[in-house]
Amino acid sequence: MMEALLLLGFVAVVVGTVPGGQYAGDKVLRLKPENEQQLQFLREVAHTVKIDFWQPPSLELVTTNSSVDLRVPAGWVSDIQSQLEKTGLKHDVLIDDVKTVMEKQFDQVDLSSTRYNYEKYHEWIEIESWMAKIATENPRLISWFRIGRSYEHRNIFILRVGKRTGATKPTIFMDCGMHAREWISPAFCQWFVKEAVESYGKNCSMTTLLNNLDFLVVPVVNVDGYIYSWTKDRFWRKTRSRNRGTVCVGTDANRNFNAKWCSVGASRNPCDETYCGSHAESELEVKAVANVIRKYKGIKAYITIHSYSQMCLFPYSYTYSLTSNYKELNFIARKAVKALKNLHGTQYTYGPAAFIIYPSAGGSDDWAFDFGVKYSFTFELRDTGKYGFLLPESQIKPTCEETMLAINYIATYIANLP
Ligand code: ARG
Ligand code: ZN
Repeated sequence: MMEALLLLGFVAVVVGTVPGGQYAGDKVLRLKPENEQQLQFLREVAHTVKIDFWQPPSLELVTTNSSVDLRVPAGWVSDIQSQLEKTGLKHDVLIDDVKTVMEKQFDQVDLSSTRYNYEKYHEWIEIESWMAKIATENPRLISWFRIGRSYEHRNIFILRVGKRTGATKPTIFMDCGMHAREWISPAFCQWFVKEAVESYGKNCSMTTLLNNLDFLVVPVVNVDGYIYSWTKDRFWRKTRSRNRGTVCVGTDANRNFNAKWCSVGASRNPCDETYCGSHAESELEVKAVANVIRKYKGIKAYITIHSYSQMCLFPYSYTYSLTSNYKELNFIARKAVKALKNLHGTQYTYGPAAFIIYPSAGGSDDWAFDFGVKYSFTFELRDTGKYGFLLPESQIKPTCEETMLAINYIATYIANLP
């Protein structure tokens, strides 16, 4: 009897700690509502079941004939699938079992115990000590600063990457990890910094860039959310700030910037994934990024890295109006995407975000643009939905290598500006 109890306890502990155990049997479905009835049906489902919108991140952003990727909890799958059939809403199964794919995410074995492995996803503590290490080991190229603290009092760091010349150089600001679950994003910022230090003095184009430009890189903006996505909920998107009068936690950092704040494509409901916050820059993480862009002289370009969808977006998101430099931004995006495709054939779409993805206000790209940083881009990295946020580690290298080419194109363009 005692043995049986002990065994039961053991089994419970093991099951409870299996990564992704809470997502066993969940499916990710892609559907395309073709008319108002089908859209209405989707609204009803989302009202009764806690559905996780992957792309777009919330129901409000779904329109007829746009495609929607949803994670449906195991217990509702068969119910919802049969209802979809009845409504005539066709759907594809993108992920058959979320738990299985979640385990497959970590598919690279860590052979080296001494060198930092850029082909693996890293927890925050590892990223934090990586920053300290790479900065101290490359004092001529890198310095690091704290730009603020997160809601849960963690430090938010920035790396300045570029040859110290004594003069103020044109600067490109790049941030990653604004949305917690988009793990490929922090992986890219780390890859970028690695490439910079390893190629300086060896690779001609990187050397020229680092001699003539500085990069300000924030590897993880939403530190609290990132940690939460490792420890509690893999699909967490928002910050972790508490909201008044509700148990729902967090604000969408990319709806919290002061750019026509909360006017479109964002929610006033703290329980929604696109909650815009109590006011613009209510989030410390958002304020930290905005403060750097406000105070640092010489920022010529702003780049923010997200996933997934394979897109290169530029302002505006908050309106369908085109920016005054639309033609130039479109030209740069087209060339950047072309350079990216050259490596592995990965296709990106590009254009003003309101048209290409969906209209939404409070984004960092629009805010930076209106503040005066006229070269402002949002990248949505791999993939287009096969793995979504669960992009396997085996794709970190190809994804980062191809993205480097796009960033390199933009940076070279900036360096050559009169
Ligand atoms: N997936 C990104 C988001 O929802 C798209 C960002 C495009 N830019 C924007 N300002 N909304 O935040
Ligand atoms: Zn995102």
